Amino acid sequence: MATDSRSPKVLCLETFLNDPLSSIPGPFLGRISSLWLLKLDSSGRRSHTIHELHKQYGRAVRISPSEISFSSRQAMRDIYGANNKLVKAPVYEAFGRPSSFTICDRDAHRTRQKRIAHVFAPAAIADVEPLVHEQVDKLLAVLNKRDGQSIDIMEWFRIFALDVVGAVFLGRNFGGLESEKPPDILLELDQVFPSLWVEWQFSSIRWLLLAIPYKPLHHFLNVGPKFYKHGRDAFHHYVSLYGRSGNRRDLLTKLIAGHKDVGPLKDDEIVNEMTNLIFAGTDTTSNTFSYMFYELAKMPEWQDRLQEDLDSISFDAVPDYKAVVTLPVLDALVHETLRFHPAAPASLQRVTPPSGVTIDEVQVPGNVTVSCQSYTTQRDPDIFPNPDTFDPARWLNADEGHLRVMHDQILVWGKGQRSCLGKPLAYMELKIGTAAVMKRFRFEIGSPVTDDDMEMTDHFTLIAKGQRCILRVIKR
Ligand code: HEM
Repeated sequence: MATDSRSPKVLCLETFLNDPLSSIPGPFLGRISSLWLLKLDSSGRRSHTIHELHKQYGRAVRISPSEISFSSRQAMRDIYGANNKLVKAPVYEAFGRPSSFTICDRDAHRTRQKRIAHVFAPAAIADVEPLVHEQVDKLLAVLNKRDGQSIDIMEWFRIFALDVVGAVFLGRNFGGLESEKPPDILLELDQVFPSLWVEWQFSSIRWLLLAIPYKPLHHFLNVGPKFYKHGRDAFHHYVSLYGRSGNRRDLLTKLIAGHKDVGPLKDDEIVNEMTNLIFAGTDTTSNTFSYMFYELAKMPEWQDRLQEDLDSISFDAVPDYKAVVTLPVLDALVHETLRFHPAAPASLQRVTPPSGVTIDEVQVPGNVTVSCQSYTTQRDPDIFPNPDTFDPARWLNADEGHLRVMHDQILVWGKGQRSCLGKPLAYMELKIGTAAVMKRFRFEIGSPVTDDDMEMTDHFTLIAKGQRCILRVIKR
């Protein structure tokens, strides 16, 4: 075997001098090691720190020896555009077993999407509106009983979003709103990502870890597999009750029956898809609800404006989606919440193809990780003046041309081929749920620590620092 006779110091110097990313500005630590970035990831301050780095260094910032963060609209097009050749970074595999969200390979993802896209089609989502209504009705009952009390609204929105995902994708809800307590699966949801990450990172020595006689470690390692067991049990239960005909109203029936031209997925693949949807659809939606109600509680004038709009239409407890989908103030509140408190604030990482690509006029070599993050694109001061102010009016006052630019700058759903499939369902939940609740209730900040609790941190998805949002509920 040929050996390199040069000393390590010389090799280091050569690598440094030949560094193809050397012209891209960024913090010194990021140039020499990715440990800095790992530490940042685990601190919950990644999005915020990268945002500050963009302010300091400009539109392209080198954040590790092989990773660049971009911030411009052109970069979003170059990275996420439908026909380009970048693929999701391998870290997505750590988010769970192979599914539409986690598969990185372009062709494998295309094949998977062909088999599941019909499940998320507008007509399919419209079909499940009555299931969303049922959960909203139960949420109203919970709030009714708590009139005048300070409650953790985040917990109730979490239970609500989980019950919607259950009803729509698992064939039955988790019963959290009926029993008025969080189902156990919500506790598992808090631990499932770290557990799956360890499973992914140390897959070859998992057996060794399991051989260590330490119960808490076993419990931790088994959270991931146990989570998928929920999906598997729900799937078998569903098939035993209803078969595979595709005649029911929920979306699981459509997933099981498969696409009319390309047929269904294998059973294991269905289980992985439906289980991954539990995390794709729960905390994202419930955090958006929680931050919107938190902002409303701080700004009673926006409660007045929303209620004026809601009072101009009549509906029983829960409105039809078509009655509220275009209500201007509701729409502005939802979009400003998604902009200012993005449920997915972090870098959406992609890897460049071996031949390299040009991103926002920067020539990037092959196998480099590149990304934009919604936390920064959605705080661009040229497009969103006073970006650090929560101001729903910006969506009401913009002319048509600027509104288009603002929407284009929103990255919270991702973009292109890999953008969120659940977006229409999430909008339906957010608008119907908010309209029904705000028609009947008003909210006030319910604890002196609520502001501190709601400080934004991120671990890919947005996490409120205190993981609770105490608000006082008052019947109108
Ligand atoms: C406010 C709510 C939500 C937000 C902000 C959100 C955000 C996102 C983002 C950013 C991605 C793309 C990640 C990337 O490019 O790296 C994504 C993908 C996805 N989301 Fe959502 N999501 C939300 C709700 C939902 C819901 C309710 C569901 C369904 C139950 C869902 C299902 C999915 C799926 C299946 C994908 C993978 C798409 C693919 O690559 O084929 N999401 N979501």
